[in-house]
Amino acid sequence: MKIYNAKPILIGLAIFIGLATFPLWFNMGKAAPPPDPKLDTPVIQRMAVKQCIMPKDQMRTEHMQLLNDWRTEVVRNNNRIYTASDGKQYNMSLQNECMNCHSNKSQFCDQCHIYAGLQADATPYCWTCHIAPKENK
Ligand code: HEC
Ligand code: HEC
Ligand code: HEC
Repeated sequence: MKIYNAKPILIGLAIFIGLATFPLWFNMGKAAPPPDPKLDTPVIQRMAVKQCIMPKDQMRTEHMQLLNDWRTEVVRNNNRIYTASDGKQYNMSLQNECMNCHSNKSQFCDQCHIYAGLQADATPYCWTCHIAPKENK
């Protein structure tokens, strides 16, 4: 027996194999090492005690909520001063407070968000209005 239309069959077969094994190769390169959020910014390097607004573990899991609360306080209640549990006061501002310390947005926020599976350049909708820090990429 002779296969007359070998070419389309082979192409079809190639596509089929590609689709069938899609789940196998789709995750290739995604098994990235866990993120290592960098703290080597000028402001953080100058800090005597390197601490965030809340303890690190809490920041890791609750920073979205904190930002949300800050926004509500500023926009609804016109209150701009946040007093942390240790009594330290912060200006409730994404741009002027968080990003003043974490000026390495791409190495810090973005790296962790991409790993966590949020869209690339995660939380882009914040940066359509808020000004992201200037970085040398
Ligand atoms: C459509 C535009 C817009 C988007 C998108 C947006 N914001 Fe805002 N945000 C504002 C405006 C306007 C204010 C009020 C600014 C002021 O009064 O200083 C504000 C205030 C804030 C504040 C308190 C004040 C400050 O300077 O930071 C925080 C915190 C904040 N937003 C966080 C966020 C976060 C986090 C996101 C993304 C999840 C986000 N915002 C997305 C417009 C936006
Ligand atoms: C005064 C400087 C400073 C400010 C302001 C600040 N941070 Fe931090 N942040 C740090 C330092 C230093 C650490 C590391 C803390 C540690 O190792 O215990 C950190 C840790 C974190 C972590 C955990 C990182 C990890 O490795 O798990 C997150 C998330 C974070 N900050 C987000 C934010 C957000 C969001 C804001 C604003 C709401 C903010 N930070 C404001 C200095 C700051
Ligand atoms: C240690 C890892 C880590 C770091 C560092 C980090 N984030 Fe996140 N962030 C997350 C994770 C994980 C989520 C998603 C949580 C969820 O889906 O409930 C998130 C969610 C958010 C959200 C809510 C997004 C949404 O779609 O609702 C905002 C806003 C945010 N992060 C801001 C920041 C900012 C600003 C920084 C840098 C100052 C930062 N994050 C640094 C892990 C991190």
